[in-house]
Amino acid sequence: MNEIGASTIAAAAVPEQVAPPVRLSVIVPTFNERDNVGQLITRVAASLRGIAWEMIVVDDDSPDQTWAAVQALARQGARIRCLRRIGRRGLSGACIEGILASSAPYAAVIDADLQHDERQLIKMFALLQDDAADLVVGSRYISGGSAGSFTSGRLGISVAATKLARRALGVTMTDPMSGFFMVRTDRFAALAPSLSVHGFKILLDLVASARGRLRIIEIPYSFGARLHGESKLSSIVVLDFLGLILAKSTRDVVSLRFLLFALVGASGFIVHFVVLYAALYEWGLAFAPAQTAAALTAMTTNFFLNNALTYRDQRLKAFALLKGLLVFYAICSVGLIANVGIAFSIYGQRPVWWLAGAAGAVMGAVWNYAASSLFVWRVR
Ligand code: GDD
Ligand code: MN
Repeated sequence: MNEIGASTIAAAAVPEQVAPPVRLSVIVPTFNERDNVGQLITRVAASLRGIAWEMIVVDDDSPDQTWAAVQALARQGARIRCLRRIGRRGLSGACIEGILASSAPYAAVIDADLQHDERQLIKMFALLQDDAADLVVGSRYISGGSAGSFTSGRLGISVAATKLARRALGVTMTDPMSGFFMVRTDRFAALAPSLSVHGFKILLDLVASARGRLRIIEIPYSFGARLHGESKLSSIVVLDFLGLILAKSTRDVVSLRFLLFALVGASGFIVHFVVLYAALYEWGLAFAPAQTAAALTAMTTNFFLNNALTYRDQRLKAFALLKGLLVFYAICSVGLIANVGIAFSIYGQRPVWWLAGAAGAVMGAVWNYAASSLFVWRVR
């Protein structure tokens, strides 16, 4: 903490304490977990008896109104708080906000669906309090733990992802995909600015960003079955995971978003030439209308692919989708002018066709990417 912060705090009047200061904040990210939160609170309360704990449920405005259920429970006692986020989605972001909202020395993250074993919290707490570690992780893959309720397909993916993470990022833990851990909040706060709020691999991100500066202990637990409802993690999270590996292994230089955007752009190139060929030789159009039809088709497929993949976390729908498409056409037209302009001027200085062409394409792609992330899929 800087000195200004410390002296301001010393000068400020602290309101009279009504309860001992909280030692442990239990952060629970939720999305449609209405039927699970009550049971979770009961079980956490039973296992944390004797500790000054609180629970911060971070709910992304669940359609099933989990936030209302949590607020109703919160009215019965001061230990529970609900942080309701509007217009935002994401497990990692929810965990980050929850932990940063804590003023306790330690914070745990635990799923709402009772798949994590809340009885481990007390052991995790003891390890942190004894200063044996900065981070304690619940692991399914050390002896004594198990991924019991996983289907064999999901287990395979989880094991492969773990291997990749360990290779690419030099992470040595057995279960970097775990969503169950407890951390010193001061260490977490120091690393928070380098964490991604997208995706769901917050633990892997934390450990990779710390680059060996966190003392970590893993303790075994058995991953149980979900109580009610269904998993929110679809197969698309594989993309999030690869994105994190890419970003962290290039020290945040290359983002998966740009890579996806470029790949979609490359697919547009193919679409363009297929349509151009068909328009010229199948439908017998003249070159100018054929080229226009090809360009419009490619822009349209690019738009929908980007909306479904690159920006799936802020997918446009209904009227916003139509408006986005029109803005995207406008941006791509400017991108095309930039592309051709740059290529021309480079070709003028050095008539190497592929160099000029590539420079133009890169220029166009960077412009399209920058402009559409500002004006079409606005990153909030
Ligand atoms: N606020 C918020 N926003 N919470 C979310 C979101 C979101 O966008 N998506 C999921 N959650 C909450 C769920 O409500 C649940 O409490 C918790 O995050 C975990 O989500 P699940 O949908 O139950 O995930 P899972 O059981 O498939 O995956 C679990 O195991 C993985 C290990 O393979 C999670 O613990 C993952 O973090 C973990 O990596
Ligand atoms: Mn779950």
